[in-house]
Amino acid sequence: MNNWKSGRKILLGITGGIAAYKIPALVRLIKKSNCEVEIILTDFAKNFVAPMTLETLAGRRVWTNENFDFSIPHIKLNDWAEIFVIAPCTANTLAKIAHGVADNLLTSAAIAAHCPILIFPAMNENMFDNPATQENLKILSARGVHVVQPSEGDLACGVCGRGRMPESNEVMLEIFRTLSPFHDLAGKKVLVTTGPTHEYLDPVRYISNPSTGKMGVAMARAAWYRGADVKIISGPVEINSYGFEVVHVKSACEMLDAVKENLSWADYIVKAAAVGDYRVKNFSSQKIKREGKDELTIELAQNPDIAAEVGKLKRDNQILIGFAAETQSLNDNAHAKLERKNLDFILANDVSAPDSGFASDTNTLKLIPRDLNEKEKIYSGLKEDIAYEVWSDVV
Ligand SMILES: Cc1cc2nc3c(=O)[nH]c(=O)nc-3n(C[C@H](O)[C@H](O)[C@H](O)COP(=O)(O)O)c2cc1C
Repeated sequence: MNNWKSGRKILLGITGGIAAYKIPALVRLIKKSNCEVEIILTDFAKNFVAPMTLETLAGRRVWTNENFDFSIPHIKLNDWAEIFVIAPCTANTLAKIAHGVADNLLTSAAIAAHCPILIFPAMNENMFDNPATQENLKILSARGVHVVQPSEGDLACGVCGRGRMPESNEVMLEIFRTLSPFHDLAGKKVLVTTGPTHEYLDPVRYISNPSTGKMGVAMARAAWYRGADVKIISGPVEINSYGFEVVHVKSACEMLDAVKENLSWADYIVKAAAVGDYRVKNFSSQKIKREGKDELTIELAQNPDIAAEVGKLKRDNQILIGFAAETQSLNDNAHAKLERKNLDFILANDVSAPDSGFASDTNTLKLIPRDLNEKEKIYSGLKEDIAYEVWSDVV
């Protein structure tokens, strides 16, 4: 499996904002992702994060104005870099870059950059809302600089507002989104269902399955890397939802309603949720007591088939991708499902195979297209890497 995230060359600029305290954790993540990093600090940044901390974590010298000399680091670092990330980016530095001011190593490198620039403005809310800052952000965006809007939350100045830099793992996701070799889903809308469903017997018990949502989130994340707007309809499971809009549901019926509500929005629909085929026929509004009952019989009613419903309702220009989680006759069952549910593609998944299926970080999947002129394909590896390859073939 092609691992496009490994070995990337990241030039990281740090400016004098309080969020610089988060950057050592980011450097660790960059190294953990098998990427290389060169770091430039402004003079002010050194007040917030120690160069020696960064050097220890990066395993190499950092660059400061003291090394801004005949060796022309602002040019050489750019010749090396695949991406220039400025995190955090102060109001001061973004104003300088917007207006072509190159008065230190970091701003000179930004003006000399010929790779994508990704900036994370982080500051007090009033500084962020200042018309000059907003104007500067517009100028940079219009020039193709990737600007990640700060989120709302507790700010270091003691107020709650807009101006927070995302956490390191989120910065990492944004770096990979910018570095993605393909952005062929830009402008496209991808709706993904994921996770298990809970079918309640009474207020405190339910029937479910071991789905963790990992495969659905991998499909969502890979689509997001490729530029898509992504909405997830998630069963009750914890997921890393950064960058996605999430609709939370519990039961299969709730999931069907949510899918129908969002169907017209989507260009691609990925049905990765492990939806329970049955629900309890007679839900007890009070907790079922064990006293006086040696046995308990629960009657089940069939749930709606969400993929089949979508197959009926979808427009011709909407692509529907389903999963077939099977423990036997994988091929036959997958082909039958593809036809019966009017899917455009099905991903056949032998959930009984080792290192596959529920909860695993890895999987083996077979892509079966509806169009007989298209080839079937088998993928094996980490779920996120597989998902990226699946999108290559589907798009
Ligand atoms: C304690 C303290 C915290 C600061 N936090 C921020 C901040 O979060 N964002 C920001 O834009 N400026 C912040 N500033 C102001 C910048 O440090 C100042 O504008 C400086 O000139 C930035 O220099 P640089 O852009 O070259 O790093 C802060 C200043 C101080 C003293």
